[in-house]
Amino acid sequence: MALRITVIGTGYLGATHAAAMAELGFEVLGLDVVPEKIELLSKGRVPMYEPGLEELLGKHVAGMEGSSGRLRFTTSFEEAADFGDVHFVCVNTPQKQGEYACDMSYVENAFASLAPHLTRPALVVGKSTVPVGSADRLAAELAWNPEFLREGFAIDDTLRPDRIVVGVRSARAEELLREVYATPVAEGSPFIVTDFPTAELVKTAANSFLATKISFINAMAEVCEAADGDVAKLAEALGHDDRIGGKFLRAGIGFGGGCLPKDIRAFMARAGELGADQALTFLREVDSVNMRRRGHMVELALEAVGNTSFLGKRVAVLGATFKPDSDDVRDSPALNVAGQIHLQGGQVTVYDPKGMDNARRVFPTLGYAGSALEAVRGADVVLHLTEWSEFRELDPAELAAAVSTPILLDGRNALDPEVWRKAGWTFRAMGRPRA
Ligand code: UGA
Repeated sequence: MALRITVIGTGYLGATHAAAMAELGFEVLGLDVVPEKIELLSKGRVPMYEPGLEELLGKHVAGMEGSSGRLRFTTSFEEAADFGDVHFVCVNTPQKQGEYACDMSYVENAFASLAPHLTRPALVVGKSTVPVGSADRLAAELAWNPEFLREGFAIDDTLRPDRIVVGVRSARAEELLREVYATPVAEGSPFIVTDFPTAELVKTAANSFLATKISFINAMAEVCEAADGDVAKLAEALGHDDRIGGKFLRAGIGFGGGCLPKDIRAFMARAGELGADQALTFLREVDSVNMRRRGHMVELALEAVGNTSFLGKRVAVLGATFKPDSDDVRDSPALNVAGQIHLQGGQVTVYDPKGMDNARRVFPTLGYAGSALEAVRGADVVLHLTEWSEFRELDPAELAAAVSTPILLDGRNALDPEVWRKAGWTFRAMGRPRA
């Protein structure tokens, strides 16, 4: 009989994993402790924006018209324990308040709530991003299988991962996970078997590398600013070297979101506990280059409105989410910049295609507009802070007619300077003082 899978924690990772497992042909039961979330998911609806996820849920959630019926949801750990051969723990591990370390309480609660009900042989698989050494502490027949999915590409990253990493301690655990991932492995995804610590480390090391790559190019942007260079051309040229590669070399206001910033901090904190803090001191610099970018964008905006003060100045902000194709505003560089300018007295109006509700919740005192055109009306400067494709399709001439002064600052190096200048804009991009 086919394996029965449960997914514990149906946030952004868990909801995607549950739908993907159903798509791979398994019977799946998703569990969350928040009843409202379960109610929504049981109707095939998702509590966040992720392209394609609602469609995939609609294909499999039991009770939906024409669905396979392979996916159901519950709030009961007893039901989950009774149902599953393999239990995936997908709860989040946010940064602890006032500390670098990550908060393991959701993971610990998930294990503690499931364990007493496990009355038949089952494998518990951790997918959450945890400090190295965590798996060792958690009881149960366990495996660790870190996730590598990106918001905006979550379904593809789950169904066609560029690698599957499993930390195991028994042949049975490896065998079960090979069965779970038989389809992507047959389609070419490499399957890497490791011990627990290595599996945990792969995830944090990967995110640290990506953060380092972004901060590297942002450090080059700082040098380009000082030397009149062009960081976009520099990145293009570097990217042609196969050993370097062109991805994650887009300079701008830096990285944010629920993963990269907290993961590098949790990694530093854990290395400190292990006595290996020196190995990761460079991540402190990575973090600090990244945070400087936000401040630099505020300085550029101040310069644009006359260099003295934001008081009485209207600032339009295009983008609120930490990246496009997501409604996530956690540690969003765009919202941070908007907030800093607002706190310095600027009249800030924000527009984002999908992140308005979340942005309003986090920063209710900012102004919000229903479209890019509405946001820029009467603006003394326009800041492009999240590279939604919608913003690349804007008509610069139409916007120029609506603003008070046509100055555009591109914080994501994603707009074409020529097109905007032709329409009468003063265009300035980060790390490209002359471009
Ligand atoms: C990141 C990793 O890319 C995933 O592999 C990982 O699974 C995930 O964290 C996680 O730990 O769960 P995500 O947070 O969705 O995924 O976002 P990224 O696509 O990595 O982007 C992070 C930030 O870097 C964004 O704010 C983005 O705007 C910024 N970025 C990205 C740049 O500033 N420049 C670039 O060249 C690329």
